[in-house]
Amino acid sequence: MFKRLSASLLILAIGASASVTASAQSDLVAARKANFKQTGIAMRQMRGQFSGGDYEAIAASALKIAAWAEQMPEFFPAGTGPDTHQTDALPSIWERFDSFTALAQDNQKAALSLANAAKDGDGNAIMAGMQALGKTCGACHSQFRK
Ligand code: HEC
Repeated sequence: MFKRLSASLLILAIGASASVTASAQSDLVAARKANFKQTGIAMRQMRGQFSGGDYEAIAASALKIAAWAEQMPEFFPAGTGPDTHQTDALPSIWERFDSFTALAQDNQKAALSLANAAKDGDGNAIMAGMQALGKTCGACHSQFRK
């Protein structure tokens, strides 16, 4: 299961510049949705991995989530909002892009500390780390997602 996940949780790195074409914008929107979707699956799988004591799988998923979080803001160039694309991203992202970026960084940090806890094999720290990570997802969604 873990092998399949790591293959599917690929970060689709598409260079995002200010002047991306309309079709490149649609690709970015599709790619960010795919990355978020994989992140959601990874988060759900972690619960089972925790029960099964598969801390290595948790560490690997957390590192992938951190890598995605680092790139996340680049997948939200201006012009990829709901007025021109089918997206759950709210226009407030581009009004407060600094806050959006800060929340992505919180997400990245939380994922990295979870990865460290999982590498240490400390069950309590892993549980706390998964909860803390989940909160950083919700913190952004509550402000910036439909
Ligand atoms: C900095 C903001 C931010 C953070 C952090 C964040 N998300 Fe999201 N998420 C979004 C936005 C914005 C969308 C809507 C993307 C779109 O529709 O273009 C989204 C969409 C999603 C979706 C729906 C994808 C789909 O199928 O369309 C899932 C699932 C999801 N996020 C899970 C997560 C999880 C799990 C985490 C934490 C590990 C997380 N997100 C962290 C902003 C964030």
